Amino acid sequence: MNRKHPIGIFDSGYGGLTVLKAIRNQLPQYDYIYLGDNARTPYGTRSFEVVYEYTLEAVKKLFAMDCELVILACNTASAKALRNIQQNYLPQYAPHRRVLGVIRPSVEKVIQITKKSHVGVLGTPGTVSSGSYAIEIDKLSANTITVTQEACPMWVPIVENNEIGTPGADYFVQKNMQSLFAKDPQIDTIILGCTHYPLLIQTIKKFIPNEVNVLDQGPVVAEKLANYLLRHPEIENQCAMQGTIKYFTTENANSFNQKASVFLGETVRAKTIHIL
Ligand code: DGL
Repeated sequence: MNRKHPIGIFDSGYGGLTVLKAIRNQLPQYDYIYLGDNARTPYGTRSFEVVYEYTLEAVKKLFAMDCELVILACNTASAKALRNIQQNYLPQYAPHRRVLGVIRPSVEKVIQITKKSHVGVLGTPGTVSSGSYAIEIDKLSANTITVTQEACPMWVPIVENNEIGTPGADYFVQKNMQSLFAKDPQIDTIILGCTHYPLLIQTIKKFIPNEVNVLDQGPVVAEKLANYLLRHPEIENQCAMQGTIKYFTTENANSFNQKASVFLGETVRAKTIHIL
């Protein structure tokens, strides 16, 4: 057995830490490498071509760091780059490696939990304009669910710039929630379709009806990953199991450490790397 490969977790910045945290809670035995492309964040306002190019570069970097399995812990990258990587890049250049995203697991879950079949999707402009959630929900529910999307372009900058809990953050979150519920007052379940958004969950809950379910993707992705590894022993057998985690950022490591340590509740010592 060749258990020497860490699992790679990629995001455009800090948001993917919400997914990493949940994955480590559920699967603490494996080794992980987290890569945040903080130097080029946000991805959410960029074109398909650019998100694909940046995401593929990051995936290649994680492959070069010995990851056989990479999770795109970023909805924008999952929406705009995953399919292309899975269908075109991997078969030709890395047929034994795997890249998974966060959209499909979240959609499977939301279909199970919505009672009124009215779902709201919050995401970056990129994720919303890709229509990925709506397409996937339509497909898996045979068009039985009403999907209403809301792009929240200010939320990632709010998180990345430490503005959570400020009146400015409240203003933008309230504005987007009013707009979402004006489009469909029957929504009973909301997907946080951006890995940064769980950091705003307390603010979001202030501005939506109490009975609305808010789906945080981290635990859902973690559960699906555990299941994936059970179903794919050929991948699981290669995963290193020392329980370690290494952090890399494309920006300044000190600022990454400060924010990530507060968020994860443990000391983080990241290294700066260049993706290219
Ligand atoms: N965290 C990313 C996502 O889940 C978005 C952040 C960004 O815009 O770069 O969509």
